[in-house]
Amino acid sequence: MSSLRVFKTTDPPGWHCEDLPGRSTRWLTWSSAFRDFVSSLCKSALRRRVLLIDVRGCSPYPTSYYLPLDVLSNLHRAKLLEFAAHLHRFPGQSELCLFRDMLTPPLDGGRIRAVFALLRTALVTLLGDERAALCSPLPSARKDLGFRLHADLFLTTRLWLIFDDVPDDNTGASLFMTRRDLLKAVRSIRAIPEDTACFVAALLTKPIARDSFDRLYRLLHCSRNRWHEALRTALREKTSAVRFRSGEGYLIDDRRWLHGRTAVSGKVTSKRFHRLTYGLRS
Ligand SMILES: [Fe+2]
Repeated sequence: MSSLRVFKTTDPPGWHCEDLPGRSTRWLTWSSAFRDFVSSLCKSALRRRVLLIDVRGCSPYPTSYYLPLDVLSNLHRAKLLEFAAHLHRFPGQSELCLFRDMLTPPLDGGRIRAVFALLRTALVTLLGDERAALCSPLPSARKDLGFRLHADLFLTTRLWLIFDDVPDDNTGASLFMTRRDLLKAVRSIRAIPEDTACFVAALLTKPIARDSFDRLYRLLHCSRNRWHEALRTALREKTSAVRFRSGEGYLIDDRRWLHGRTAVSGKVTSKRFHRLTYGLRS
């Protein structure tokens, strides 16, 4: 069992008291040990240029930021692997892990990219599979339309986002719903056939052999479905919206929590958030 922890629990920021699902949420920030670790890398590994690589077997989203572990001393490499082992245990069952103060010194927008790239390499090393973690770059966009509730249902199961360049208004809220609430909503709508409801449940609970994002998204949101309006209303009732500030973020199990976002005002930059996905689905 690893003794070095990446996170420690912390109090929720006062400004989020009203908008969060109370149960199953936990606020975290970097542990003192991890901050010390990052500080010790500021004059060495974190000054290295982060590379972009294509990871075989991750099509259609193969690109990841990358730093090799050989930029670290043996001691630092051993510590990083311990931190990664701790990270791999998060989130626990059904938890919505929320973060604050993640871009305060020694972390900032540039360093967290390098830190995520190093954690990605450490997770890949631990899990013995290049596909087991990705630190995907975010494309910039001049206009954002938001993204309805969905599960990624891609290769990895954990989704960790830390927001950075966010607008200073109330747009671009993150949306969350538990799998339990989704399946309840689906079962409550008579227009949804039993086999379709079972298929939705299977996508979120059973092993899936391939990228299944489209299959779930179409069932939930295609306007040609005869249950479209009823489901839209049911989903709206159970959705929580959280407008994260810079330095805040979340970590979820993609099969247990659906996620989405409302539209962002103005353009979206490649530093809107930093993202690490990891843990191969089974
Ligand atoms: Fe997503």
